[in-house]
Amino acid sequence: MSDTHTAPAELSADAFAEQWRPRFPILSTCTYLVTHSLGAMPGTVREKLAAFADQWAERGVRAWAEGWWDAPVKVGDLLGRILNAPPGTVAMHPNVSTIQSIVASALEFTPERNRVVYTDQNFPTNMYVWEGYRKLGAEIVCVKSPDGIGVPTEALLEAIDERTRVVPISHVLFKSSYLQDAAAICARAREVGALVLLDAYQATGTVPIDVQALGVDMLCGGSVKWLCGGPGAGYLYVRPGLLETLEPRITGWAAHAAPFSFEPGAQRYAAGAARLLNGSPAVPSLMAASAGYEIVLEVGVEAIRRHSVRLTEGLRADLLERGFELPGPVDPARRGGSLTVRLRADEHGPAFVAALERRGILVDHRPDAGLRVSPHFYTRADELREFADVLAELRASGSWKGFVGGTKAY
Ligand SMILES: Cc1ncc(COP(=O)(O)O)c(C=O)c1O
Repeated sequence: MSDTHTAPAELSADAFAEQWRPRFPILSTCTYLVTHSLGAMPGTVREKLAAFADQWAERGVRAWAEGWWDAPVKVGDLLGRILNAPPGTVAMHPNVSTIQSIVASALEFTPERNRVVYTDQNFPTNMYVWEGYRKLGAEIVCVKSPDGIGVPTEALLEAIDERTRVVPISHVLFKSSYLQDAAAICARAREVGALVLLDAYQATGTVPIDVQALGVDMLCGGSVKWLCGGPGAGYLYVRPGLLETLEPRITGWAAHAAPFSFEPGAQRYAAGAARLLNGSPAVPSLMAASAGYEIVLEVGVEAIRRHSVRLTEGLRADLLERGFELPGPVDPARRGGSLTVRLRADEHGPAFVAALERRGILVDHRPDAGLRVSPHFYTRADELREFADVLAELRASGSWKGFVGGTKAY
């Protein structure tokens, strides 16, 4: 993992952020604290998309052989550097929902090993897909969180046994930012012969991940958030050894060993990550996303994490002092990149979001959770102070009430 730039410990948080801010156009227009939903766009995305358009305009059909066809694996290799994934083990797909469906379609649910184990804090898409496999013999084991924040690791480990086929589980929980003990989950699954599919969407780009050190079987996510890569660029890593054995039924000619021989009949799967593909790739999304991966590699996830912990710890202390409740993990080592601020029962989350937006501050809200707020490597400490000031003022004045009933856009 690259960590090439000056470590935040040697710089003030603001000086660290200033190194990167000019690369993100939106940062000069607002206080951007919503990376857990949509990361700011790097200015280089424009160049990537212009290059794509030029290639199409000037090279026409030849573009397929000049980078388009290979893009899902080539861009996967670039993203793979953030995860320490070996080249050829990451395939790009439009989103996590598709990826979960592809993986599910590669598994057998036999009576002896038919359990799918996850928690009720999973992102819902990672339930909808697996629920559908009940019809094909899957048994869903959903471990419940006692507090809506996290699930005790012991309870989860206990649920994973010799009957478990797969554990499709979140690394960082989307509502509370609780960072699950992925190493313990992978170790337990290995012990009993189950597979882990780790959804690292809320981790990759803000929490360091090394898929090889973790020994995770499969890891997926998207690029919209901490990777600043925009929509349409999901990634699926499968560890060597397992990869060659997977034969997804959700498949297509891009997964064929010789796609341009147009062989009729049954699928003959390609070697490497290409076997996980299906049809023609969404090239512009992949080109755009590579701009985000490049800057995340340049900054280095270790440096991002140190900056993030420093800022979230500061904001947490500030908000607690002002009387706000932050029900998420107290230990920063068990937390992803965002904080969740619980509102009172008589307060209205979407109205707070709209009121903050009116003041030029972007955050979001999730039901049964609260306001989600997050710094990234481009965030200055004074932006978080500004957020805390405005939030406190909205609560004290009740002026958020003027925003109840507005349309919720994100
Ligand atoms: C943990 C997690 N998984 C998955 C998704 C979304 O999945 P998809 O790429 O299918 O939209 C999100 C958020 O949007 C998420 O936070």
